[in-house]
Amino acid sequence: MNLASRVKEISPSPTLAITAKAKKMRAEGIDVIGFGAGEPDFDTPENVKQAAKVAIDQGFTKYTAESGIDELKVAVVKKLSRDNGLTYEPDEVIISCGAKHSLFNICLALFDPGDEVIVPSPYWVSYPEQIKLVGAKPLIMETRESEEFQIDPDRLSRMITSRTKAIIINSPSNPTGVICSKEVLEKVAEVALSYGIWIISDECYEQITYDCGRFVSIASLGAEIKALTVVVNAVSKPYSMTGWRIGYAAGPKDLIKAMSKIQSQTTSNPTSISQKAAVEALVGDQTFVRKMVAEFAQRKDYMVGRLNKIPGLFCLNPGGAFYAFPNISAYLGKRAGEVTIKSSLDLSNYLLEKAFVAVVPGSAFGSDQHIRLSYACSMENIRRGLDRIEEALSQLSA
Ligand SMILES: Cc1ncc(COP(=O)(O)O)c(C=O)c1O
Repeated sequence: MNLASRVKEISPSPTLAITAKAKKMRAEGIDVIGFGAGEPDFDTPENVKQAAKVAIDQGFTKYTAESGIDELKVAVVKKLSRDNGLTYEPDEVIISCGAKHSLFNICLALFDPGDEVIVPSPYWVSYPEQIKLVGAKPLIMETRESEEFQIDPDRLSRMITSRTKAIIINSPSNPTGVICSKEVLEKVAEVALSYGIWIISDECYEQITYDCGRFVSIASLGAEIKALTVVVNAVSKPYSMTGWRIGYAAGPKDLIKAMSKIQSQTTSNPTSISQKAAVEALVGDQTFVRKMVAEFAQRKDYMVGRLNKIPGLFCLNPGGAFYAFPNISAYLGKRAGEVTIKSSLDLSNYLLEKAFVAVVPGSAFGSDQHIRLSYACSMENIRRGLDRIEEALSQLSA
């Protein structure tokens, strides 16, 4: 078929094949335990659902302003001030259909073909592909597990060329769970300011952290760096609202205006009903988030503790998000009968076929030395899944 060349430029998600296989096995009646989930396993809070019901009953079901309703922009402004010490005006905020949409609007508004964007690795799967979709070039910058996956500011400055337009920071990170330290962010800000490159700060997991007070938004480090930063966030993860599709970006007025212009000719407004629900999520009762994070913390401690007891595995203790990212390199090169495990995808396939546990290969995030396990599932399933993984790994031979 004669499709546009940009389609050939982007890769389909490497996780799709494994997800499809897990689904097929479940349909055949096999009890597959899923550690692949990228969303909380909690219901959306009742007060949020209620706000949506009221919106429907009151007929709030028509087009809104393309960049979102003022009431929600004001709620975002309050949230950014309350949680992150950031001051924005409502016209420095745009509401989009999820953080993914906000990020793509930023790519469309900022990057010309040939521009370079630095993406620290391990990275969230969509960053390189969105950059490629607008004709720009992702420059993957390695971060090291021995340095707790923190960005090395010297490595960053060495990568910058005259075509470099931005760096994407994701803290807490999907997949590693690592929170960028304030010290590192200060150095990254210095580099960005000296070269005049944009910072795209994806803060989607910022409310799901286990080390109170550690998270810092780079935009809060000073007026100069704030003027070069666009903060991206969403109600998706903290309020278990992944299906409602509300994300937002805050940044300099001209950039937000450009993104609104793009949104006005593409999607128009995000769903009116979801916007009303998001207002309640952001400024209503926050008990839900605290309870969910407390539950995630218990599961994390259990999962990471168990993973580190399995011979050969090593797993950093994540500071946020709901993923464990163990290093599986000790198992690469081992054999399962006739088959040699050569990659994180091979190991993920082996765990699915042998242990009936679905995990995500690290190659999807730019590291073939790891696998990602989500603990957005019941404690019972975490226990059973880890028992199975332990047993299956013990059967691999050198
Ligand atoms: C790091 C990161 N950014 C952005 C998103 C997209 O979030 P949303 O569902 O709000 O589009 C995700 C979702 O998995 C994510 O993990």
